[in-house]
Amino acid sequence: MQDPRQEIKDKLDIVDVLMEYLPLKNAGSGSFRTTCPFHAEKTPSFYVSREKQIWHCFGCGTGGDMFSFIMQIDGLDFPDALRILAEKAGVEVARYTSEKTNTDQRLLAMHELAASFYAKVLESSPQAEAARTYVKSRQIPVELVGTFRLGYAPSDWNSLSNFLERRGFSASEIVQAGLALKKKSGQGIFDRFRERIMVPLCDPQGKCVGFTGRLIGEVQKGQAKYMNSPETPIYHKSDVLFGFHLAKQEARQKKAMIVVEGNLDVIASHKAGAHHVVASSGTALTFAQLNRLKRIASTLIFSFDADAAGFDAAQRGIKLARGEGFDVRVASLPTGSGKDPDEVIQKDPQVWLSAIENTIPIIEYYLKQAIKGRDLTKVDNKRYVSQMILPELVEIEDVIEREHWLRVVADLLATDINVLRDSLKNSKKPVSGEAVETRKIAQSKVMPKRASKERQAALMILAGWIQGIVDLTTIDLEAKWTLALPDEDLINLYKTLIIAYDLGKSDPNAQKSFFLWIRNHIEAEHTHLLAVFDEVALLGERTLSTMPQNKARGLIEDLIQTLESSYKRTQRERLMAEIRAAEACQDAEAVTRLIGEFNTWR
Ligand code: CTP
Ligand code: MN
Repeated sequence: MQDPRQEIKDKLDIVDVLMEYLPLKNAGSGSFRTTCPFHAEKTPSFYVSREKQIWHCFGCGTGGDMFSFIMQIDGLDFPDALRILAEKAGVEVARYTSEKTNTDQRLLAMHELAASFYAKVLESSPQAEAARTYVKSRQIPVELVGTFRLGYAPSDWNSLSNFLERRGFSASEIVQAGLALKKKSGQGIFDRFRERIMVPLCDPQGKCVGFTGRLIGEVQKGQAKYMNSPETPIYHKSDVLFGFHLAKQEARQKKAMIVVEGNLDVIASHKAGAHHVVASSGTALTFAQLNRLKRIASTLIFSFDADAAGFDAAQRGIKLARGEGFDVRVASLPTGSGKDPDEVIQKDPQVWLSAIENTIPIIEYYLKQAIKGRDLTKVDNKRYVSQMILPELVEIEDVIEREHWLRVVADLLATDINVLRDSLKNSKKPVSGEAVETRKIAQSKVMPKRASKERQAALMILAGWIQGIVDLTTIDLEAKWTLALPDEDLINLYKTLIIAYDLGKSDPNAQKSFFLWIRNHIEAEHTHLLAVFDEVALLGERTLSTMPQNKARGLIEDLIQTLESSYKRTQRERLMAEIRAAEACQDAEAVTRLIGEFNTWR
């Protein structure tokens, strides 16, 4: 069987696929550009190549093929991206997916219908009069009722089940979807949700996968305020983030996501004009949720309700998030402004907007919580505060940041900073190598490094090679410029390309498109180099292919010179320092040797 990715790539053009998301403008020679959807910018540095079927942003360094684009823009994993593009390409999904996904499709279709059903009831059924009044009393504008597809489940025992059965779904399917329950005695099923405001829970694409239903009005004793869908093949409570599909675009631009407790807080925040907000639904964020968030934001801003319950519940998620390298901050609601964001916003949306604008680092929040109402001249209180805060300081990777907070705590407690530093060592937990690795990867993803002059030169030289302007394989392999390649990834890419060019020459499959062959080879065998390869390839197309051949060659040769002299200069600087050191030690022999070496780098 052919690789589904290849079949899809053969049928679709990356420019058409991306055009559905972005206003691509022709940039000449088969490339297109626009402003990057993955970071905020004014001048477009996001490029797409029709010939090479790849994209790359020269501003933030992200890039890849059509699959990676769909994954990043929609926050999907690969199987989902495959499914979406397969559909677009008219490649039969069933051939690549298991039976399980057919069930998923039916369950999704059923939820879609159920959401429309509930929405229709809320909009116009005489039975929903009280529900409409309640929605109004919560000050939810009608547009947002539409955006969030709010609905109402009427009081009958069978209205939804009957509706779905008429649409061809069996009783057991409706039970499997969690929308109805089997009767305990006798035959038949009854609706799970009755007399509740229905809030669809959606996947990252906005497809309804489950519901949460709220009682109308005040909650009586013994009643559950919310009733949720059970776990089903398409609904996993620990994966869903309420509001994510409506938040992702703004969060990506702001590189930050606000996390509130309640679904109604999310809706209220939209009303106030801040859309980059999700609800954790009263529990701690999970790994799955954080992974989803990591693709679009590097900062998480938590807002806790006035009661301590939400803060306690969030602790584990915050710990995970800090471990994953997120910048975790807190938006505190001023005392007396309301018990949760919803209440605050209904009183004054500006208070909310200012709270999410003026956030504080999580450590500062911890510290404020710890010292609240405590007399810090008392030794017991000092001990309490240091016990609360030191374990949090241990978690800070950045030495300078940790030192900063250590000083703050030392001043606050009027304690010697060295004493605190010692107790910090004692509360240090061993960090597993793996945790450190994932953190590094997370950070390198969210914080693209600014390319040095040397790196830019090296990228362009390799681009000239891929573009066929210079043939680096004929250039002396020991040439000094290759020693000057500034980063590990460029050195590896250079070596890999040398070998790949040789392999490609003798492979008939490479005849059709040498470029695509090489890219596939790198993707399969050297995946970690794919991003830099794409960057180089697009750089070449964008700059070199629009120049006359000899001018481009001249440019590359100049850059090789530049890189070489820059390398020589660093070598001379290094040797100068060593010579001075040897002179200081009066080591005449070393001085002579080093000067000899120095002269080879002139
Ligand atoms: N929750 C739940 N079951 C409950 C109470 C709460 O599942 N019995 C979840 C819901 O997802 C809810 C979240 O926890 O959105 C936060 O709870 P809370 O702040 O009490 O609810 P709000 O969404 O603020 O709802 P309301 O303002 O209507 O009370
Ligand atoms: Mn609330």
